[in-house]
Amino acid sequence: MGLFNFFKKNNEVPASLFYDTEVHCHILPGIDDGSPDVATSVELVRQMQAMGIRRIIATSHVTESTFENTPDTIGAAYDSLRAALDKEGIDVAIHTSAEYRMDEYFLKQLNNNTLLPYPENYLLIENSFFQPFWEIKELIFDLQLKGYTPILAHPERYMYYHKTPQIYKELHDQGCLFQVNFLSLAGYYYPEVKAMALRLLEKGMVDFVGSDIHNFKHTEFMKEYLKTKEYRKLAEKASAVINNNKIVF
Ligand SMILES: [Fe+2]
Repeated sequence: MGLFNFFKKNNEVPASLFYDTEVHCHILPGIDDGSPDVATSVELVRQMQAMGIRRIIATSHVTESTFENTPDTIGAAYDSLRAALDKEGIDVAIHTSAEYRMDEYFLKQLNNNTLLPYPENYLLIENSFFQPFWEIKELIFDLQLKGYTPILAHPERYMYYHKTPQIYKELHDQGCLFQVNFLSLAGYYYPEVKAMALRLLEKGMVDFVGSDIHNFKHTEFMKEYLKTKEYRKLAEKASAVINNNKIVF
């Protein structure tokens, strides 16, 4: 998609997202804190399509104690959504993966070879919002040894890293890719989170932008942000560096 297609002069045509492959969202029904049911999922997908999304990597939470999802639970949720989308004639490609919290449950699935990566073996991992995984560098190394390319989800949202920002460079230099949230760049969370997202972009450490959509509050916020002048500037900068559309499926 050419840069000039993002912005039509005609104000009635809303701007599209600067990526058409979504790499982070919680649209599978009923298996995490995202969409609660199939009808909601269908409507979320519709709204993502309206913003320009054509391919979706669904990344439901996999978290010890709270969301202990497996390829089976994820597959079943996908099947019910796919059937509903087909019935509605909604043409969108969906790849099932997950957002893996680094914890004991994850290590177990890693050992059992039951992880669901993106295409090309990218793997979306996240820290808790309270503290980093205690051995994150060792884990990244292990994942790479096993043939995965780890992508750290929303590094800008881990406020404990803001005090020691050199950790970002260390992890990124190690080969861990970064996925920043569109919602962070748009200012949905704390101002410090937006500032860090922009700083990572300036420093060349944003590899992917993902929406992290859980609900309609998120899609509404995104739609409003797409109308702003600030979005246009962001789109020019970010579209030049991200790799979303290079993931093929
Ligand atoms: Fe997420």
